[in-house]
Amino acid sequence: MSNGTSSGRRPVGVRIAGTGSALPARSLTNTDLERLMETSDEWIVQRTGIRSRRIIDRSKGESTSQLAGEALKAALADAHLSPTDLDLVIVATMTAEMSCPASASLVVNHIGAGQCGAFDLTAACSGFVYGLNIAHDLIRGGAYRTVGLVGADTLSNLMDYSNAGRSTAIIFGDAAGAVVLKATDDTSKGVIAQAMHSDGPGWKEIYVPRCVQDFPEGVAPDESKYEHVQMNGASVFKFAVGTFPKLIEETLAKANVKPSDVDMYVCHQSNQRILTAARERFGLAEDKLYINIDRYGNTVAASVPLCFDELKKSGRIREGAKVMFVAFGGGLTWGSSLWQL
Ligand code: COA
Repeated sequence: MSNGTSSGRRPVGVRIAGTGSALPARSLTNTDLERLMETSDEWIVQRTGIRSRRIIDRSKGESTSQLAGEALKAALADAHLSPTDLDLVIVATMTAEMSCPASASLVVNHIGAGQCGAFDLTAACSGFVYGLNIAHDLIRGGAYRTVGLVGADTLSNLMDYSNAGRSTAIIFGDAAGAVVLKATDDTSKGVIAQAMHSDGPGWKEIYVPRCVQDFPEGVAPDESKYEHVQMNGASVFKFAVGTFPKLIEETLAKANVKPSDVDMYVCHQSNQRILTAARERFGLAEDKLYINIDRYGNTVAASVPLCFDELKKSGRIREGAKVMFVAFGGGLTWGSSLWQL
């Protein structure tokens, strides 16, 4: 058990000491998309709840690691800490600029975090929530005291903004969100219950092919699809609608708490209909399950920390609250992290 006692260390709690986020300057509205492909604002809003999203402009220096660095800087400022206080930086992303170095290394360089540990974690939209569990347990176990965790993605680079890609391109936006996790003597603070799951055979529901061999059996390889997200929207929708409530139920049962005991559900913003269905399933009040997908679309690993930062900044989540983070996505993967703040 990683509670810090097995090695004779004092037990530690974990607190979320600061939050931050970063968004590209450029907006891509549904009206903009109407000019690029055969679609309509009405169709997009009705099926997804999305009205606008932000996308990076590489020529202006915006990128996954640049957004990640800005978000982490903001979280450090919020925590009244400096970059050199960090022992470790983890970036959850599926859109690192390069396969080497990791985005986390570029972030360490960008913010001047010295020689702390740095690595990326790839679990698509579930990446940040997986990261919360991992970073938490590393601190709880006593090995690290201050960890910067970022969720950052720029899927605009992997979109086909033509008719051929219209069922996918309308969904995704670019962003980064970050938290700084810190050891505390208050052992009541930290993760109460967590879950991390995957469905290997489901990999073919969302993938980004790079060569002929990457296409699943039964799908004709097509060069025009290289480096573009291929998503079976209807299957993913079905998976999400079924998995989401089960994941919340599993996490509540592990923690032995009722749905209404949780002060806020911070959920991956995949589709407004999926979020609303989950809210209704548990009879949650509207203000207990936050939704900002209308403004930013699905920002993959960034969506959960972006919501969390907005909720913290607006005072809707305070110290002492119980907060459940929930996400699902490519892999297929899904995960939760229930916190006592
Ligand atoms: N504008 C207008 N029409 C569109 C369109 C668009 N952007 N994209 C697809 N269509 C059309 C299709 O061509 C199809 O037309 P047809 O019936 O004449 O063949 C019709 O709309 C229905 O297409 P379909 O793909 O079945 O739509 P849908 O109702 O499943 O909605 C999604 C598509 C992507 C919005 C929906 O499946 C979804 O939200 N899935 C979950 C995606 C998700 O959450 N992904 C992230 C996981 S982390």
